Amino acid sequence: MTTTTNATDITDETLAPRGRDKIEWAERAMPVLAAVRERFARERPLAGVRVAACLHVTAETAALVRTLAAGGAEVRLCASNPLSTQDDVAAALAVHDGVGVLARAGEDRATYFAHLAAALGHRPQLAMDDGADLATLVHTSHAALGDALVGGTEETTTGVTRLRAMAREGVLRYPVIAVNDAVTKHMFDNRYGTGQSTIDGILRATNRLLAGACFVVCGYGWCGRGLAARAAGMGARVLVTEVDPLRALEATMDGYQVLPIARAAALGDVFVTVAGNRGVIGGPEFAAMKDGAVVANAGHFDVELDLAALADLAPQRRRIRPSLDEYRQPDGRRIYLLAEGRLVNLAAAEGHPAAVMDLSFADQALAAEYVLASARELAADVHALPRAIDEDVARLKLRALGVEIDVLSADQREYLRAWTTGT
Ligand SMILES: NC(=O)c1ccc[n+]([C@@H]2O[C@H](COP(=O)([O-])OP(=O)(O)OC[C@H]3O[C@@H](n4cnc5c(N)ncnc54)[C@H](O)[C@@H]3O)[C@@H](O)[C@H]2O)c1
Repeated sequence: MTTTTNATDITDETLAPRGRDKIEWAERAMPVLAAVRERFARERPLAGVRVAACLHVTAETAALVRTLAAGGAEVRLCASNPLSTQDDVAAALAVHDGVGVLARAGEDRATYFAHLAAALGHRPQLAMDDGADLATLVHTSHAALGDALVGGTEETTTGVTRLRAMAREGVLRYPVIAVNDAVTKHMFDNRYGTGQSTIDGILRATNRLLAGACFVVCGYGWCGRGLAARAAGMGARVLVTEVDPLRALEATMDGYQVLPIARAAALGDVFVTVAGNRGVIGGPEFAAMKDGAVVANAGHFDVELDLAALADLAPQRRRIRPSLDEYRQPDGRRIYLLAEGRLVNLAAAEGHPAAVMDLSFADQALAAEYVLASARELAADVHALPRAIDEDVARLKLRALGVEIDVLSADQREYLRAWTTGT
């Protein structure tokens, strides 16, 4: 465990050159963020603003941090998950960009929270969260910081859920922009990003053939839709479990078999939870699984699989490959758990491709600018990113992709506003 009050705590600064190459490669696929960065460098909208950012420390996040710095922000970065840090990227940011980075791949829980506390030691005016762990500290052990905080941004579904719970209870102390709820975020990052990178994590951890496998997706939200489509594209037979009748109906009409987890448990070869909920797969389901079943989670926290129940059921455990643990039950049946039940796409692979994080992190940078500029008008609540910013990001991405679209004529605009024209 590390107890640090320093601005930087990373694994190995000699990894910096490799990290720099990785960041350069990611930035090539992030033209929207590059356009935001050019403007930020000219206009310096974040000049002198202290930012604490709790995000997955990946090459794409480095591109975001460099954008915030170009806008004048003083950023301290800590990890939003103990297993998702890319140590080479952390080193590059610290060594080449002079950013305070507090993140080591595989850090234990105590170090994880020591790093968050050290990021807050910066006395931030803006808290950038992915899962709302910084916000939770600001509302519990670090309450004195609440007054200095002008605003926050939140990257993911689970974080928005937690912040909305704070707002409902009337305890949230500063306005937060729900970046996740921007269309250019969840419709692309959650769907296509999680879809592709979760498959990537499963393949890197197992090298299993998905064609012909029975692949169970637990939760058919934005992430689940993308994952189911990608698994089906690899030739898997996809089963879906849900609790929401509308989502279950959608999955059915998208062509998947929908059934309760209690029945899916005995059928699946690969299981992935993406529900943003706890105990989605529990003891009875683990007990019903076939010998050799592979189980992973791509939801934000490591609570979706009941790992205590798995350990009770299958006390013999050994690591077989990186990110792959075998749990053997007394009757000899084995269950393979990926990435210790943490986000498999970030812990066993590199997270989302840069081209999709281009959208999410352009939203993040613009949300930071917006919340700082509008803080006086915004109540201490969870707010949407304005639609105009969402549309600008989409337009910039289309331009970068070379895609042109039509424009409404004056006559069409008029038709869409009127109610008198009918049959
Ligand atoms: N791995 C990543 O990189 C990544 C990226 C984006 C979001 N996330 C996380 O993934 C999770 C899902 O995000 P989302 O945007 O798809 O959320 P969402 O709200 O769109 O979808 C979640 C779905 O899970 C369903 N669900 C809830 N409890 C369930 C249960 N017990 N069994 C079956 N289904 C259940 C809900 O009804 C809902 O349809 C969140 O924790 C989010 O923070 C991860």
